[in-house]
Amino acid sequence: MREGDRNIDEARQGEAIQIESTVLNHSEVGVKSKKLFLESYGCAMNFSDSEIIASIMSDAGYSTTKDETEADLILINTCSIREKAEERVRNRLKGFKRYKRKNRDLVVGMLGCMAERLKENLLEQEQLVDLVVGPDAYRDLPSLVKKVNGGQKAVNVLLSREETYAEISPVRLDSAGVTAFVSIMRGCDNMCSFCVVPFTRGRERSRDPQSIVSESLDLFNRGYREVTLLGQNVDSYKWNLDIKGNVKDPSQPVVRFAELLEMVAEVNPELRVRFSTSHPKDMTDEVLHAMSRHENLCKYIHLPVQSGSSSMLKRMNRGYTREWYLGRIAAIKQILPGCELSTDIITGFCGETEEEHQETMTLLKEVGFIMAYNFKYSERPKTLAERKYKDDVPEEVKGARLSEVILHQRRYASELTQKMVGKVYRVLVEGVSKKSEDKFFGRTTHNTVIVFDKGDLKPCDYVNVRALKCTTVTLIGEVTTDKADA
Ligand code: SAH
Ligand code: SF4
Ligand code: F3S
Repeated sequence: MREGDRNIDEARQGEAIQIESTVLNHSEVGVKSKKLFLESYGCAMNFSDSEIIASIMSDAGYSTTKDETEADLILINTCSIREKAEERVRNRLKGFKRYKRKNRDLVVGMLGCMAERLKENLLEQEQLVDLVVGPDAYRDLPSLVKKVNGGQKAVNVLLSREETYAEISPVRLDSAGVTAFVSIMRGCDNMCSFCVVPFTRGRERSRDPQSIVSESLDLFNRGYREVTLLGQNVDSYKWNLDIKGNVKDPSQPVVRFAELLEMVAEVNPELRVRFSTSHPKDMTDEVLHAMSRHENLCKYIHLPVQSGSSSMLKRMNRGYTREWYLGRIAAIKQILPGCELSTDIITGFCGETEEEHQETMTLLKEVGFIMAYNFKYSERPKTLAERKYKDDVPEEVKGARLSEVILHQRRYASELTQKMVGKVYRVLVEGVSKKSEDKFFGRTTHNTVIVFDKGDLKPCDYVNVRALKCTTVTLIGEVTTDKADA
């Protein structure tokens, strides 16, 4: 991940990520390897899915390429979260038409959330793709591609209640080999009224904790020093419990998120653990206590609030009020002093009044987030909001409110970063700084980026760095032997 990219990538939604070249593990002599160009849009979960897709396709004889012009197969892993994310993909697909004219055997496939949402309509209406595969059907990809090679179109958008791709070993895309995503669950059982995810990702299911621990251990043994556990609502992780909370198999342990966190933390104290996304209605004190017991559980929580107004939160069907959210923040500040917070905000959701918007502003000021990912509301087909409420906040008002949030947040984050100057931080070295070849960058436990001289260090090392000065949200420091403050 690049310097400046804050951990979790709601911020990256819509931005394309191309997969680095990978080694083909299917290397029978004489078998000509086919080339796959794979591009991902959307959240970290999609990015993590692309690592699974790369693994499945590698076993089927495809090596990945970064050059789309030489591809035999182009796969786009898509996002539906906002209208704009879909528009971007449509434009991209239109661009691939020119390669199809040159190479009649080229197969273009759409994967992920947009594929799930639009299904076979994509084949019929738009003629941009040959293949449509939803998030739970990636194991079927090799046979679907074969079907297309045989001259047919292919679709599999079946959602599953069980699929977690638990035993598939993802092809790691972070060539620096320092940080990795580990998916711990799929789907979402919440029905936030603005959100398309439950329709595109299906029901929530948790992955076997042993496979999560083994994957984390394997990453550690291969030199990685940070994992980010991923799920749409990690606090709802449960293993060996049914939907009503009854134990499924009494001979097996029950594992909730707090226990899972400790299991992964115990893989090795030198392995940092982050997670996303937490849900305010489900985040328990047990999770916070687990974080306080293990230094390697990073003191940073992404806790999307969406709005600071209880009436808006009700319309959003978020399952909590402003007061409940502030109660969770108070618990974090009490149990984990010094823990930093980030959030997501939607401006201009159905019926939002100026007064309600101002409640978001006061909440932002009261809590003090180090980072906020802010979005204008974008109506999504089939959602509760689309069926029940009018998307009635004018575009300019949505935009003006968004700017107000961004302006406040920028100012606040910069003040907070300035306050970090002077302190010593334990930093995981991630790679070469984008701005200066002779400097490395790394992150503090709070996910703040810090830049410092390379010295004899190398990526994956831990080092203490004193922050000497800062730009808006990045610290600049020097390596020290002094004890770390955090
Ligand atoms: N599971 C996470 C968020 C997943 S989507 C959670 O519950 O917090 C990431 C973010 O996209 C959301 O937090 C929300 O802020 C934003 N988002 C989702 N649907 C949206 C929509 N229709 N319009 C604008 N932003 C949206
Ligand atoms: Fe969407 Fe809500 Fe589920 Fe997050 S918790 S993915 S916002 S429905
Ligand atoms: Fe987008 Fe699907 Fe993620 S809609 S945000 S890629 S779960």
